Amino acid sequence: MTTIALPQITVPAGLRIASAVRDGLTARSKRLPSWLFYDETGSDLFDQITRLPEYYVTRTERRILDAHAAEIVAQAADPRTGSRLRIVELGAGSADKTRLLLKAAIDYQGTVVYEPIDVSPSALEAARERIEREIPNTTVCPSVYDYTQEFDLESADPGMRRMVLYIGSSIGNFEPRQAHKLLNAVRCALDPDDTILLGVDLRKDVRTLLAAYDDAAGVTARFNLNLLARLNRELDADFDLDAFGHRAVWNDLESRMEMHLESLDAQSVRLPGLKLEIAFRKGERIHTENSYKYETGQAEEMLADAGFTPESTWTDERNWCAVCLARAL
Ligand code: AVI
Repeated sequence: MTTIALPQITVPAGLRIASAVRDGLTARSKRLPSWLFYDETGSDLFDQITRLPEYYVTRTERRILDAHAAEIVAQAADPRTGSRLRIVELGAGSADKTRLLLKAAIDYQGTVVYEPIDVSPSALEAARERIEREIPNTTVCPSVYDYTQEFDLESADPGMRRMVLYIGSSIGNFEPRQAHKLLNAVRCALDPDDTILLGVDLRKDVRTLLAAYDDAAGVTARFNLNLLARLNRELDADFDLDAFGHRAVWNDLESRMEMHLESLDAQSVRLPGLKLEIAFRKGERIHTENSYKYETGQAEEMLADAGFTPESTWTDERNWCAVCLARAL
């Protein structure tokens, strides 16, 4: 087993939250990390986001995979060597899109082993239950850990090729340097000729982007504000959710959508769990998320920089999202 340590060290979840919140809220420009969104309520809200009319990412990527799953699987399995494919996924996998690839792998080779990696045992258990019930001939082997902090893979059997799925535009939530480290860690854990399938969101007109991150039904606003609700629940903080507003901003220079929570008044918030009291000016913001949007060809460059050879890229007819298959050198 290969373990590649990424810069953060593994610490218990409660401590990691406490230290991220302390660092973020006492910084000159207040910020909170976007991984804090995903408690049970936040994961449920994100699931709702993926079905919103304005949030094109999930739907567009699904259409790409629907059209090309058979081709992707055949290419990843490496027909020159007649290898079998094992599918690893970073995250427990939004069932729909993963299902398309698992079904294509079963059509290709009869059975498939699927290894989702996620920090949440309950998300993994739900994925296992759903996938084994709905896709016969799939064996699910979940691994519980935070792949953003370290990346492990079991050694593959000889004659087996692994394809690591990192879809859903999740790479876009990392700063470029962190994204590079993560891709590099994946590369180091793979054997030569294994592959990664990377899904990215491409630059597009700003109106489409703003609508996707500030939908009419207000689900993304609730997703953003749930972060404060989570601090109230877990750190006994007293954020008044009505006193903060959801803001979605396009940062053209950095090529990213940003989400912020804006204090609607001057106020002060207590976090007794951290022995902190934080003052907010009216209009002051907490930066909660970056979601990078890439130029055409940029995903391939990032993969090449991390030691992969990009082989094929599939996009939709509007060129809104891209899915790249790249082979480990
Ligand atoms: C999970 N991630 C790829 C989403 C994104 O689009 O950056 C999270 C999200 N934030 C607001 N809407 C969706």
